[in-house]
Amino acid sequence: MDTRLPRSKWALMLLTALSVLLILTIDAGASSTGQQGDENIVCLGCHANPELKMQLPSGEELSLYVDPDAFNASVHGQLGQKCTACHDGISGYPHPPLFAVDRRDLSLGLYTSCRRCHEKQYREGLDSVHARLLAGGDRRAPICTDCHGYHDVAPPDEPRSRITHTCSKCHSTIYNEYKESVHGAALLEESNPDVPTCIDCHGAHHMEDPRTARFRLKSPWICAGCHTDPVRIGKYGISTDVLDTYVADFHGTTVELFAKQSPDQPTNKAVCYDCHGIHNIKKVTDPEATVVKENLLRTCRQCHPDATANFPTAWVKHYRASPQQYPLVYYVQLFYRILIPTLIGFFVVYILLDIARRTVERFAQRGA
Ligand code: HEC
Ligand code: HEC
Ligand code: HEC
Ligand code: HEC
Ligand code: HEC
Ligand code: HEC
Ligand code: HEC
Ligand code: HEC
Ligand code: HEC
Repeated sequence: MDTRLPRSKWALMLLTALSVLLILTIDAGASSTGQQGDENIVCLGCHANPELKMQLPSGEELSLYVDPDAFNASVHGQLGQKCTACHDGISGYPHPPLFAVDRRDLSLGLYTSCRRCHEKQYREGLDSVHARLLAGGDRRAPICTDCHGYHDVAPPDEPRSRITHTCSKCHSTIYNEYKESVHGAALLEESNPDVPTCIDCHGAHHMEDPRTARFRLKSPWICAGCHTDPVRIGKYGISTDVLDTYVADFHGTTVELFAKQSPDQPTNKAVCYDCHGIHNIKKVTDPEATVVKENLLRTCRQCHPDATANFPTAWVKHYRASPQQYPLVYYVQLFYRILIPTLIGFFVVYILLDIARRTVERFAQRGA
């Protein structure tokens, strides 16, 4: 590969180098970042030139421009980090020969420098869906720099909506659904701090495959992490009883049992998102909601194809039956709650009386 530069470029560079020397002499001693600053000024002497570019062997053009303001404003720039903290193979010019064949190759070769200082995040990401994809040779899989940038790294969750914008770069269809959901709209329109961003359900670095039986079985507890929390949810006037009532119900009882005893076993019982949707969850009163009265039968029919109009009506949803809500169910439950202990009590008393009677009779016979 030939990365030699035309004569005019050399002239340009000589000029820049001279100006750097000038800056350095003027700045000597006054520089607050000392050596780090000086070293970066040398690199930027050439790389702050917006015209500086090169052609990669693939034919792609690579801009070699580094915006000094953007770099200085980045988390690393603010810490006064040297260019060579990441580019440890480069100390001056000429540089070592370039390894990269194309743009993606360059990214895949240079992002590993992040690991030097962020071993924890690197390790967390090792067996994520994205990392497995990369290990399988899929170059589309995101690496540190796809999510964080490199010369302009900023706190990734400020504002919180930034997280969803990061994922949307590659998952735009899902992002567009999420944006219209009760969770997404609250985040993006009201900066609501209580609703989930992508990573509350998926994680950021350690990201499981969400389409496994295991993820499905544990998903109700992801939702419940917020939906049973009176501090987080109470203020919206929605029930925090949704997990308890779900687990007490025919679907949830099995799911809880599987989740505890055989967490990899597939289940066809409904989990929260079968009824409510995943990235498109709506307020339960929204006419588009999958659980609003008009749509509920269709939702049940995904798994109960023969269900008729009164099928969902016969079910108590997340309510605990009471004289006001589902009175029939309530009184039937009450009836059984009274009837069964009464019956059992009756039999116990009956048996005790019977034993007593027999004992008395036996003693009476012996005495005779
Ligand atoms: C005299 C000008 C000059 C200086 C000073 C300079 N560079 Fe470069 N840099 C270039 C040119 C020209 C290229 C294009 C590839 C080449 O010629 O090697 C380049 C390419 C690069 C690349 C991309 C490709 C590669 O070779 O890895 C990186 C990264 C880089 N420089 C970093 C630095 C760092 C860090 C410093 C400071 C320690 C620095 N440069 C100092 C001119 C310079
Ligand atoms: C926090 C680590 C880090 C620091 C600090 C850093 N770089 Fe980089 N730099 C990278 C990474 C990673 C890439 C490869 C990015 C890619 O293309 O995906 C890169 C790419 C480059 C390139 C190739 C062009 C490009 O945009 O891809 C040049 C030139 C370069 N850096 C120069 C510099 C200079 C000059 C400084 C100091 C002012 C600097 N870098 C500081 C991580 C860093
Ligand atoms: C020389 C060490 C070093 C290297 C190399 C390095 N970082 Fe950092 N990075 C730091 C330090 C120190 C901080 C500030 C303290 C912290 O939050 O960990 C930081 C902060 C960050 C933050 C912001 C954390 C926050 O909560 O605000 C992100 C994101 C980040 N780095 C990503 C990267 C990426 C991506 C790369 C590779 C392109 C990289 N870092 C390379 C040292 C480094
Ligand atoms: C798929 C996107 C994505 C990838 C890939 C990724 N990150 Fe992150 N990273 C995030 C998000 C989102 C956050 C915010 C986490 C939060 O707010 O809890 C984050 C947070 C961070 C932080 C702040 C501290 C922390 O752990 O919350 C650092 C440092 C960091 N990442 C470094 C890295 C490094 C280094 C890599 C590569 C080994 C990497 N990230 C890969 C999305 C990503
Ligand atoms: C640079 C692109 C990119 C970014 C950024 C990115 N992803 Fe991905 N992600 C992919 C690719 C490619 C796949 C493989 C599946 C596919 O083709 O959609 C994938 C797969 C996934 C999967 C596994 C599902 C599957 O189809 O295998 C989840 C979950 C996921 N990403 C979540 C996220 C989240 C959450 C974020 C933000 C923190 C994020 N991704 C950021 C590219 C990206
Ligand atoms: C409330 C929790 C929750 C939130 C918030 C969430 N997801 Fe998901 N996501 C899930 C669940 C559950 C699945 C598994 C669905 C299935 O079984 O197909 C999933 C599946 C996925 C998949 C893989 C399957 C597919 O449909 O392609 C990707 C990729 C994904 N989510 C990305 C994202 C992104 C990007 C965001 C943010 C914009 C996000 N998710 C927000 C819960 C969530
Ligand atoms: C079999 C279907 C189904 C399953 C499974 C299900 N729900 Fe519901 N959910 C509903 C219906 C129907 C409603 C609407 C009740 C109404 O009309 O007031 C509802 C209402 C809600 C509400 C609103 C409560 C309120 O006070 O307005 C929340 C929050 C909720 N569900 C969360 C969950 C969570 C979390 C799970 C899993 C632990 C779950 N749901 C499982 C069908 C379901
Ligand atoms: C990070 C916390 C969090 C997680 C995780 C979460 N939610 Fe929510 N959810 C909220 C908050 C907060 C609201 C209220 C938002 C508002 O009204 O502005 C909400 C609203 C809802 C509503 C609308 C209730 C109504 O007003 O009618 C439903 C339904 C719902 N969530 C279901 C789910 C399901 C199903 C899951 C899991 C797949 C889930 N949520 C995961 C925090 C969360
Ligand atoms: C993801 C699939 C799925 C969805 C969606 C679903 N169910 Fe079920 N449900 C099941 C399975 C599987 C069983 C167990 C059936 C069996 O054992 O014969 C079940 C059992 C039941 C039972 C116990 C009685 C019976 O028929 O065995 C009732 C009642 C019930 N579901 C009501 C509902 C209602 C009402 C809805 C809609 C709000 C609904 N289900 C949505 C999968 C689902």
